[in-house]
Amino acid sequence: MPSMYDELLRLKTVAGEELSAITQIGELEPFRVKYLGRKGEFTLVMRQLGQAPPEERPRLGQLANEIKQDLETAFAAQESRLAESGGATHATFDLTLPGRTVPFGKLHPVTQVMDAVCAIFEGLGFAVAEGPDVEVDFYNFEALNIPPHHPARAMHDTFYVSDSLLLRTHTSPMQARIMEKEPPPLRMIAPGKVYRCDSDITHTPMFHQVEGFLVDRHISFADLKGVLSVFITKMFAENTPIRFRPSFFPFTEPSAEVDIGCVICGGKGCRVCKNTGWLEILGAGMIDPEVFKKVGYDPEEYSGFAFGLGIERIAMLKYGITDIRLFYENDLRFLSQF
Ligand code: DAH
Repeated sequence: MPSMYDELLRLKTVAGEELSAITQIGELEPFRVKYLGRKGEFTLVMRQLGQAPPEERPRLGQLANEIKQDLETAFAAQESRLAESGGATHATFDLTLPGRTVPFGKLHPVTQVMDAVCAIFEGLGFAVAEGPDVEVDFYNFEALNIPPHHPARAMHDTFYVSDSLLLRTHTSPMQARIMEKEPPPLRMIAPGKVYRCDSDITHTPMFHQVEGFLVDRHISFADLKGVLSVFITKMFAENTPIRFRPSFFPFTEPSAEVDIGCVICGGKGCRVCKNTGWLEILGAGMIDPEVFKKVGYDPEEYSGFAFGLGIERIAMLKYGITDIRLFYENDLRFLSQF
């Protein structure tokens, strides 16, 4: 067995050689751990000091301390030399560190709901079309059986660009734009932004709608009910109660507003459903023969249904959000929950 004296000298040589062979900053730390660390080789030797003959202990202790101190000085020198000689780039490249996690971006909740709505109708064979946000009066109103001075215009809080140009107040103009170009049968949805001069906890000046319509021979209200029931059960839950309530829209006859059982209280009555147990989620109806005439379809031959739904409204109901403006404040604490 080598004496402790020999062992110390051997360590001094080996460690010295190893240190001067280091060319990368990243190799310094493993070296330090191996020789100078709490469980390093020097510590091991020093621990054995107690086993040496008593008269040798002071000399061995002093030698061990000297060697260790020299090595520490050499280590510091080697460290600063490597840092200076451009090894600095290696210093920030420690392969043993765990990777930095980059937070994933997410789709905006409105986009998520929009995608989900479109996916359901695409699954039912509806094709998607998009149209202009800046619309002419004709498509936004006239073609939809809303002539100038019709009282229904007052409901729309329109942003006008000029006398005949406006920001579309709904996606319904896409009905006229598409039917004008394409003959039946048609099965289309038109998602997009719409604009109204209105702002409170349930209204923003810009929001999103999806328009849908289907035209063919022998289409009846039963087809409308069937398609919308499938949509609602897929969007909310399989057993969601659905109610068609008579209503009025100039471009559909008959017209209905569609309600679902309140998703907050389950129909018992609460603040959100104003104690009715029902929440309105969309407008719909059979396309008015006047609209068919405007686009050159024969109302005696064809019939069809249309519907329009608000994406923010559906998102609010689905997620129990009570203030629509949260969608547009871009607060990541809110948005990252979806
Ligand atoms: N365009 C209507 C609105 O924004 C919604 C609507 C109702 C669309 C009935 C339709 C429909 O296609 O048939 O208030």
